[in-house]
Amino acid sequence: MAKRTCLMIGGGGMAANWIRILTDSFRDRVEIVGLADVNTEILAAQGEALGLSTSQRFTDFHEACAAVKADFCGIATPPKFHSPAAIAAMENGLPVICEKPIADTWDAAKAMVRTAQKTGLPCAIIQNYRYADNKQELIRIRDEGRLGKLQYVVGRYGCDFRRYSAGLTVVNLLKHGLRTTSKVLCLSSPQWKQLLMDNRSRLLII
Ligand SMILES: NC(=O)c1ccc[n+]([C@@H]2O[C@H](COP(=O)([O-])OP(=O)(O)OC[C@H]3O[C@@H](n4cnc5c(N)ncnc54)[C@H](O)[C@@H]3O)[C@@H](O)[C@H]2O)c1
Repeated sequence: MAKRTCLMIGGGGMAANWIRILTDSFRDRVEIVGLADVNTEILAAQGEALGLSTSQRFTDFHEACAAVKADFCGIATPPKFHSPAAIAAMENGLPVICEKPIADTWDAAKAMVRTAQKTGLPCAIIQNYRYADNKQELIRIRDEGRLGKLQYVVGRYGCDFRRYSAGLTVVNLLKHGLRTTSKVLCLSSPQWKQLLMDNRSRLLII
């Protein structure tokens, strides 16, 4: 398989995990050829580790998207930068793979969709939990009918949604539970949307 080049936006926190996995497990398939991070210490440390020259390191993702020629752009910044970074990448011809959540606001998410439609480029949001061993085992249990026909599934994400700041927590983390649950229940997008809009969704305990 041909190696794909990546412009990475974000270098620390979750982005450090992306970089570690891309350069470790996927080293035969991916090469990071540019990095943007507002934190200059992280930028320097990751830039050194990746062997990037200073002309491949950026503190401004707009400049990075305009300057770096890559096959795709990975984004793992805090949520409020997902939309502007993804739009900058797509406007410069880069397909995007971005951390969850899609964005920090509904309008910001819609702007990403509009840019993907306008440019014809994919803008994928990762959902890593779906592929974790325990979730895959749940899918196998369902597929093999080990528990018979499932009527409903109750799951729990290990975080207290009742805490102050739960609004952001819900935006940021609820999708882990919902997305995993929808995979287990084979819910399609319209069904999933209906579930969220339906009062009975309170029966779905995450
Ligand atoms: N999938 C998962 O299991 C999982 C787990 C944790 C976090 N996340 C997601 O990962 C994303 C990042 O979260 P985090 O906790 O690592 O955040 P963070 O605050 O640690 O930031 C990540 C990196 O982005 C950089 N950054 C911040 N603003 C930037 C900008 N404007 N341009 C370029 N770089 C910028 C930071 O300096 C940092 O190095 C969030 O969307 C979060 O929801 C996902």
